[in-house]
Amino acid sequence: MAKAWGGRFQQATDSRVESFTESISFDQRLFEVDVQGSQAHAKMLAAVGLITEQESRLICETLDQIRQEIAEGRFPFSAELEDIHMHIESALIARIGDVGRKLHTGRSRNDQVSTDLKLYVRRAIDELDGLLEDLQKAFVGRCDQDAGVILPGYTHLQRAQPVAAAHYWLAYCEKFQRDRERLADCRKRVNISPLGAAALAGSSLPIDRHMTANLLQFDSVAANSLDVSSDRDYLVEFVFCLSLVSAHLSTWCEEWIIWFTTEFGFLRLPDAYTTGSSIMPQKRNPDVLELIRGKTARVMAAVPQLLILLKSLPMAYNRDLQEDKLAMFAAFDTIKVCLELAPAVVAGAELKVDQIQSRLEDGFLDATALMEYLIRKGVPMRSGHETVGQLVARCEGTGSRLADLTLAELQNSCSVITEDVYQVLGAANAMRALCSYGSGGEASVLQRVNEWKKRLS
Ligand code: ARG
Repeated sequence: MAKAWGGRFQQATDSRVESFTESISFDQRLFEVDVQGSQAHAKMLAAVGLITEQESRLICETLDQIRQEIAEGRFPFSAELEDIHMHIESALIARIGDVGRKLHTGRSRNDQVSTDLKLYVRRAIDELDGLLEDLQKAFVGRCDQDAGVILPGYTHLQRAQPVAAAHYWLAYCEKFQRDRERLADCRKRVNISPLGAAALAGSSLPIDRHMTANLLQFDSVAANSLDVSSDRDYLVEFVFCLSLVSAHLSTWCEEWIIWFTTEFGFLRLPDAYTTGSSIMPQKRNPDVLELIRGKTARVMAAVPQLLILLKSLPMAYNRDLQEDKLAMFAAFDTIKVCLELAPAVVAGAELKVDQIQSRLEDGFLDATALMEYLIRKGVPMRSGHETVGQLVARCEGTGSRLADLTLAELQNSCSVITEDVYQVLGAANAMRALCSYGSGGEASVLQRVNEWKKRLS
């Protein structure tokens, strides 16, 4: 098959080189955005008089047909034609001859591939934003059903302070909100048009880059053609954003895997989202959570993969860049399947309230509340800390809880303590005493729940 760039070659390409250099096996999924970019380019070529309106229309219509055939799986791909750009252009030429030969006027595959990638990533960001919102809705959706439930909060995975269960759910909403904002910010740099930067230097033809940018709904036009052909910063940013999404997902999964253990027993997962063991009949494993946690590796690996690809590349385009798509697609596909599954798991799980409740008074979740009680009574913080620490040690010795101590025993440790101390002792009281903005206390959390409901409606 004659190559589009074959003019100066006397020898045919070695077939091993063809299969080594091809990217059609993984860039064919760019076909829609490639056609979209080419149609905008053809319209612009007509507007500036480089081709006629009729030619432009013929190109656009034929590209529509080609897109349709690819979408329906009726389009043959072969390694000889390298990549999606060459496949579509050759099909165009095969169908409309010389008119098709004019499409590549004033552009190169270097700006073309970056345009395709930017259109693809822009769409991916919009799609992920919707999926992240679905996940936030699933967490917010739990808040009413778990109203009144108190969970131990942990630091170092050791019992720390009690919080309203909804505080946990909204903590995830905050994380995924930052992810959405980060993606929206990344989208600003994605949405700058590379098209018309051509190979590396721009063109001596009267192309109108602002027009193609407008047609493709880019916000602006990249100002330096050399920069354009080498720029993949936006892909690094994109996969980094995805890495943080996966970090947040993996934290949630890890937490629920722990909560699902017999030792914790906080959580019931629906059968539909758990799997069994081939040898141990009693097993019910949280494989979905484990795999979301595990797939984090694939997403995060895309960041170093792209950075290593870019490091020390000379300007401008180098064929190394073809590898960028492998990292980006892997990260995007992986995060997408995780986000598609996660909301159902979040909504389908149930807190084992009785189990949680039955051990809520273990671990001195109210110790900090008692210390803050002392502070309110005028005791310096460090002294209060010391006093409560000694009370905890005494309770540990006798196997009792702070709330079990008599008023006389408490006053013996610190004379400012009065009867009202029992209003902060016990996990429920300690949780309700939390009142600062953003705290895990019931009243504060309820306000945030309402805000989130409004925000996501
Ligand atoms: N398949 C190539 C890639 O993905 C397209 C650009 C090729 N440009 C070139 N000058 N060979 O990077």
